[in-house]
Amino acid sequence: MKKRIAILTGAGVSAESGIGTFRDNGGLWDRYDPMTVASDEGWRRNPSLVLEFYNKRRLELKGAKPNKAHLLIASLEKEYNVDVITQNVDNLHERAGSTHVIHLHGELTKIRPENCCNERDNYSERSVIDIGYDEVRLGDKAPNGAQYRPHIVFFGEAVPKLERAIELVSRADIVLIVGTSLQVYPAAGLYRYAPDGSPIYIIDPSDVKVPDPRLHHIREVATVGMEKFIELL
Ligand code: APR
Repeated sequence: MKKRIAILTGAGVSAESGIGTFRDNGGLWDRYDPMTVASDEGWRRNPSLVLEFYNKRRLELKGAKPNKAHLLIASLEKEYNVDVITQNVDNLHERAGSTHVIHLHGELTKIRPENCCNERDNYSERSVIDIGYDEVRLGDKAPNGAQYRPHIVFFGEAVPKLERAIELVSRADIVLIVGTSLQVYPAAGLYRYAPDGSPIYIIDPSDVKVPDPRLHHIREVATVGMEKFIELL
């Protein structure tokens, strides 16, 4: 039976693909107010601004490629049962070949009618469509007549896949965290569900913002840290 690895990734794993992180200097939240472009309140107040923000990020993703960290994570599937639980909305894990990916905060290439699919409405994937790297505009309506919105978990919204993510971390033999500042809950608290005997590694070139004696810190960028992690296995 292959050992199980739960890999929790954040924006840092895509940094070397040229996709900016949120909280590093010059990061996305230095340039945009998240409450304006990425919150449920912001969507209600000015949906065009939100649509434009995600159209820009979708176009940026079209020009990006998976980096060696994504590829090494995908290669682990040969020897391990790997579950990637990502806060990222990019599709670079899938494009690198990872086959078990959970997007806690949604997916940039997908949209859904604005009046469907939240936890209370028994979240239904059937209303979600994949538009690749195309744009969405105000006035683009779903068959049910509702405005299309990004299939993204906005600040202030529930994280529908959280239970599944907790289940996967709770049964992992090894937990690896790559490139997240561990600032946004509930994603940031997921690693704490690791079974007592399971080691937890974190790959990040800067100080770990949430010091925790259980975290073995590999102080490297993701592409180098992944090589060091694989040597440890
Ligand atoms: N390799 C690995 N880690 C890196 C690299 C790199 N090349 N460059 C930066 N990092 C690290 C930073 O040191 C930081 O700890 O990646 C982390 C990025 O943190 P954030 O920008 O806060 O991104 P993330 O933790 O993914 O944000 C979580 O916040 O705004 C919301 O929904 C958004 O999913 C996002 C969530």
